[in-house]
Amino acid sequence: MGVYTASATAPVNIATLKYWGKRDKKLNLPTNSSISVTLSQADLRTHTSVAASSDFHEDKLWLNDKLESIKSERTIACLADLRKLRKEMEDQKSDLPPLSTYPLHIVSENNFPTAAGLASSAAGFAALVVAISRLYQLPQDMSEISKIARKGSGSACRSLFGGYVAWIMGDLENGEDSKAVEIASAEHWPEMKAAILVISDDKKDTPSTTGMQSTVASSDLFQWRVKEVVPRRFEEMKSSILEKDFAKFGELTMKDSNSFHAVCLDSYPPIFYLNDTSKKIIKLIHNLNETENAIIAAYTFDAGPNAVIYYEEKNEKKVLGSLYEHLSSVSGWKDSLVNELNLTSDGSSNS
Ligand code: DP6
Repeated sequence: MGVYTASATAPVNIATLKYWGKRDKKLNLPTNSSISVTLSQADLRTHTSVAASSDFHEDKLWLNDKLESIKSERTIACLADLRKLRKEMEDQKSDLPPLSTYPLHIVSENNFPTAAGLASSAAGFAALVVAISRLYQLPQDMSEISKIARKGSGSACRSLFGGYVAWIMGDLENGEDSKAVEIASAEHWPEMKAAILVISDDKKDTPSTTGMQSTVASSDLFQWRVKEVVPRRFEEMKSSILEKDFAKFGELTMKDSNSFHAVCLDSYPPIFYLNDTSKKIIKLIHNLNETENAIIAAYTFDAGPNAVIYYEEKNEKKVLGSLYEHLSSVSGWKDSLVNELNLTSDGSSNS
């Protein structure tokens, strides 16, 4: 009897080397390794609390105060994996309460401005999986737990770490080696900053999952990207982070964003995520870097038109000043929604 509880917070991560393509849809195994930067908890995060009790009748999930039924196969897969690990512990230690058999009540909240139109699945699945792994007192490390978050949403596995994170694609068919690892903590490069420019809060035209399936099935350019471009870029980007080489990091980040949107355009029918304002931002950053004769700012865009700009703190005035100056007159630009963000050091955490 009694109610057992735990909670976790997980921040959003933004990929600088994009995950786009699955080699196994059910296990969420990617066609390439990826790299991301985890943003500050204070700015964009999901907080999830979980409770288990033999008095509960069924698993229940409240998302932003709304009761949702747990129908998604991905959520069901995550819960099953976590229960299996807990069951193994209970089988070994008979005095443990049988939490693996108790229904769960899950309460999850995002602190993002609802208008921001930012993908929340990464932080959402990361917080869910970490909260339950704490409730069950699982001994596995974060890389092991990231394999469960990965089944919820690929990008979620990277939100279990702070700072600079790699998702290693792995090559096993069962996905046992497809997991997130830390490249460097946020403290390693404390000068790094990010700004999110919210251009549109509309729902995505093509959700990531269907978009990437279509790219894998129809784009010729995609084959070149995953076989030739990304493996080389992965090593280069990792070195640029370890060496704190912003010019190199920025160049690779922009090239990879462009490469990802190029394979989207090369899909048939084509997928468009960038709009005219996104393209103006791309030009503006290139102009700024040209004027400065150095790469001081880098853009990246996910499956939507909103931009994330990386820069070092010493260049903040120049970068944000230039964005404000040139974009305030652009229609479709919501200047009230520029968020300056720090990086976070600890990925998903207790709270
Ligand atoms: C463009 O992780 O949302 O943001 O695994 O199907 O849930 P699923 O996809 P998701 O895709 C993210 C795509 C991306 C790039 C990235 O985050 O690496």
